Amino acid sequence: MYQTKIAGLGSYVPENVVTNDDLSKVMDTNDAWIQERTGITERRHIKKGDGNSTAVMGMKAAKVALERSGISKDDIDLIVFATLSPDYYFPGCGVQVQEMLDIHTCPALDVRNQCSGFIYALSVADQFIKTGMYKNVLVIGSENHSGGLDFTTRGRGVSVIFGDGAGAAVLTQSDHNGQGILSTHLHSEGKHALELSLKGPSTMHWVPEIIAENPQGDDIPYYPYMNGQFVFKNAVVRFSEVIMEGLQANGLEVKDIDMLIPHQANLRISQFIQQKFKLEDDQVYNNIQKYGNTTAASIPIALTEAWEEGKVKEGDTVVLAAFGSGFTWASAVIKW
Ligand code: UT7
Repeated sequence: MYQTKIAGLGSYVPENVVTNDDLSKVMDTNDAWIQERTGITERRHIKKGDGNSTAVMGMKAAKVALERSGISKDDIDLIVFATLSPDYYFPGCGVQVQEMLDIHTCPALDVRNQCSGFIYALSVADQFIKTGMYKNVLVIGSENHSGGLDFTTRGRGVSVIFGDGAGAAVLTQSDHNGQGILSTHLHSEGKHALELSLKGPSTMHWVPEIIAENPQGDDIPYYPYMNGQFVFKNAVVRFSEVIMEGLQANGLEVKDIDMLIPHQANLRISQFIQQKFKLEDDQVYNNIQKYGNTTAASIPIALTEAWEEGKVKEGDTVVLAAFGSGFTWASAVIKW
């Protein structure tokens, strides 16, 4: 069996900064509520005409990751792209990035596991590398949330939280035994699928039907729905479980964590986990304050920034953990 290591990381966020005060101009919300409940002060939104899309942002993050990895695009054996906000129903964003980066005819796979999407994608890539089927895999998480949120007061419980951006990692076979991804742990519980969901437009809810069924537009299923408190309660339990599962699988303890990178769902969730595990501030990385919740992009953006700031170093034990729509949850334990 081979082992997988992260050879290069990259991220990209659109230039357009949207503050809490900006949102309070278009809906009934305020900076104090958003900061108190989520920790978010600002997020990035694609601006019409700036050329960005989910695939384009993913491509920009991937370019940086490729450059830093020293691995040529011509040596990429597989692209795995995680998103809940693809440019099109089909084809997926993976093949779009392949075309944009002029990567040869390797396989490209889209992963649809929302907030856990990046760890699912990492796990898929890891299995292919471990077995020796592929050597170099480009993994991307990218989201264009702002293109599909309800920016009226009706949507405020969801729309203030989410932001746009992308992160990417180039994975390769590790030369050193013991360095790289030690394990990944994936879970889902479909009975709560609709507690955080976007029902349409879809094959079940097509646009003319939606409009016909909702002439007043008061119960519109083409914006995301989130049962916030229910999601929150499940998140804190599943985050804790899956972090412990990852540690135990590798004979590690909480004190061995050098850096925990939680999916940036809500600063209050990260703080809950930090307190529960009695971790110091420098053992947990958060940047939701600047970017909001970027779903599949949040972990690779945070991991890239932590690495750029020198907070993830060779020999460190790094734990990634996520929970979100599906419900899905996951963790990865990495020896850097
Ligand atoms: O990444 C995917 C996973 N997602 C998550 O993990 C999110 C988990 N959930 C949460 O983070 C929180 O539930 C939220 C931040 C989404 C909401 O916080 P909450 O403390 O659960 O608030 P709430 O939904 O219970 O709403 C409390 C009040 C309500 O008003 P009333 O009924 O008490 O009068 C809402 O209408 O706050 C109101 N409210 C707002 N007020 C100002 C909801 N959204 C807003 C807003 N601005 N943006």
